[in-house]
Amino acid sequence: MKSTEAQVGVADPLQDASTVLLFEESRPGRIGFSLPTDDVEEQPLDALLPGVALRSQPPALPELSEGQIVRHFTKLAHANYSVDEGFYPLGSCTMKYNPKIDDALASLDGFTALHPLQPLSTVSGTLAVCEALQRALAEISGMDCVSLHPAAGAHGELGGLLVIRAYHEAREPGQRTEVLIPNTAHGTNPASAAMAGYRVVEVPTDIQGNIDLGALKQLVGPQTAALMLTNPNTLGLFEQQITEVTACLHDVGALVYYDGANMNAILGVARPREMGFDVVHLNLHKTFATPHGGGGPGAGALGVRDFLVPYLPGEWVERDGEEYRLTHGEASIGRLRAFFGNVANLIRALVYIRCMGAEGLRHAAETAVLNANYLLAHVRELFSPAYDRSCMHEFVVSASVLKQRGIKAIDVAKRLLDYGFYAPTIYFPLNVPEALMVEPTETESKATLDAFADALRAIVQEAQTYPQVLREAPHRTPVGRLDEVTAARHPKLVFTSSDYAR
Ligand SMILES: Cc1ncc(COP(=O)(O)O)c(C=O)c1O
Repeated sequence: MKSTEAQVGVADPLQDASTVLLFEESRPGRIGFSLPTDDVEEQPLDALLPGVALRSQPPALPELSEGQIVRHFTKLAHANYSVDEGFYPLGSCTMKYNPKIDDALASLDGFTALHPLQPLSTVSGTLAVCEALQRALAEISGMDCVSLHPAAGAHGELGGLLVIRAYHEAREPGQRTEVLIPNTAHGTNPASAAMAGYRVVEVPTDIQGNIDLGALKQLVGPQTAALMLTNPNTLGLFEQQITEVTACLHDVGALVYYDGANMNAILGVARPREMGFDVVHLNLHKTFATPHGGGGPGAGALGVRDFLVPYLPGEWVERDGEEYRLTHGEASIGRLRAFFGNVANLIRALVYIRCMGAEGLRHAAETAVLNANYLLAHVRELFSPAYDRSCMHEFVVSASVLKQRGIKAIDVAKRLLDYGFYAPTIYFPLNVPEALMVEPTETESKATLDAFADALRAIVQEAQTYPQVLREAPHRTPVGRLDEVTAARHPKLVFTSSDYAR
């Protein structure tokens, strides 16, 4: 990655060279491959595409050999960090190891060679996979019907809130205008509620780290459309009064939305349905071990109780004997995206669920909780836990104990990169000062957890003896400490020719 003006650390000349290589090494006529002369008669391009879609000039791409290109991208790939390379305790993201068998089966020709506009009668195998996944997710969440349509968790949130809105509007037009959201919630919750046209009302957290039930009771009313909640919540704590919380909403005719981002903690142990939730999204790229990608390719399957099925977005698969067909709700909120979802990831999720089985899924959740508590037992002597309780699949501690040394949560996170680990989530949830949010997941060994705890111990020691090394970290990564304020104020979103002229 090329360093920018925003970078204050020392640039790595090797990395810079690899980035500009594609353009600087370009030589007219150099090509990546050569093939025998084509003996198939070529159709003129404008017979295949409308003239307006055709370029008048060829693209100004660098001319390079195949080997140069492979080296360039291999170097870039090595500059990246992934869960295949090491521990990735990014709280709230469930960065568990993604088994390779999921990729192998999703890569079968019978799946990859399909076109989304193919007649449905020719894709019954893929529809069968989707239908089996819908059933599995309905069983896991307790919902009556699941649509695989949304592309991510946040997309599922928007879909779920539009479903809630359609339901209320059909019964009491214009009456319900507010969505309640705890102050610990993930930022996508209020954003989705606002996009669905609701006023967001914040609910405080009590001294135990639960949603404040007393305050909630004061806030609900005939204007309330829904409460959005994740359980365990984003503090990694199980909501101890969850059935009272959901009943409080139902008592005033409102609905309850379950943000399924933290489902990994309760798989096979507890279900949102029994807790009283009406709508659920499940992030397949977290709980069900499919890749996260850079903001995708995710999948945020949306499940609802029976009375909300007519409003579901997009289509879902229905089985009729040996036949599979797509169906949609009679009052559907419509499509949120093209086609049927990220099918390759849906296949991966089903393979994961089938390989694990019901017992395996429960074991994964129990191990995720055990791993988090094991790590918390080490970490609580270094940083103060946000709430003094045992945790679920993740925990939040505060780095403010290092404040008198001038060290912040971001310094700890950056220094962890030098120790070969990905950093925890920082500064979230917002109600915890200098928050470090750690989610080890079930796929990490005791040895890895011990090594991570040792690294944190060493960093706390460095904060006492040589804090500057933390303030300037990371020192061993392809890109050093960035000026995040400049990066946020003046983001460079487009790569232009002046970038590689530099
Ligand atoms: C608690 C919570 N809710 C919602 C989301 C949004 O999910 P996605 O990233 O799939 O859009 C996240 C993502 O990290 C999350 O942690």
